[in-house]
Amino acid sequence: MYVSNTTTGHTKPAMYGELREQLVGLFAGERNGLANAANLSALLYTSLPDLNWAGFYFLQDGELVLGPFQGKVACVRIALGQGVCGTAAERRETVLVPDVHAFPGHIACDAASLSEIVVPLVQGDRLLGVLDLDSPRLSRFDEDDRVGLGAIVDLLLDSSDFTRFVD
Ligand code: SME
Repeated sequence: MYVSNTTTGHTKPAMYGELREQLVGLFAGERNGLANAANLSALLYTSLPDLNWAGFYFLQDGELVLGPFQGKVACVRIALGQGVCGTAAERRETVLVPDVHAFPGHIACDAASLSEIVVPLVQGDRLLGVLDLDSPRLSRFDEDDRVGLGAIVDLLLDSSDFTRFVD
């Protein structure tokens, strides 16, 4: 059962569908990966409820390096396998963390963060980086977010070139 957003009456999957439609327009005619990732972080941060951070890390010289984001300043470099971001990148799969304090090795950039979702950016067989969302609410992210954000990341990857700033 889906819980409706009290403001719009929309279900979470419907809300992600609308965001995806907005992004089709936002990305139209622009393939610069840095620009598109920057706009995506802003759209997610301003559209999704209960977030305190939304942004990207890109793979450079074998480690994750901070990319465009919205929220408080964050740690710049994360090794593969470290924290939630490095774990999602190494496994190349989305990692949902209902309670960051129960995740061994979680990297606390903002003490307000209580739950987190990290979606890897994989183009073909190439790992490009991760999309990371943090929330000050426990268990903020669920399967609807995994599916919705996965579709949005797929659209970003189909719409953008990242060759200039990712190894
Ligand atoms: N919490 C992340 C680090 C990045 S910040 O949340 C922006 C992690 O454990 O990888």
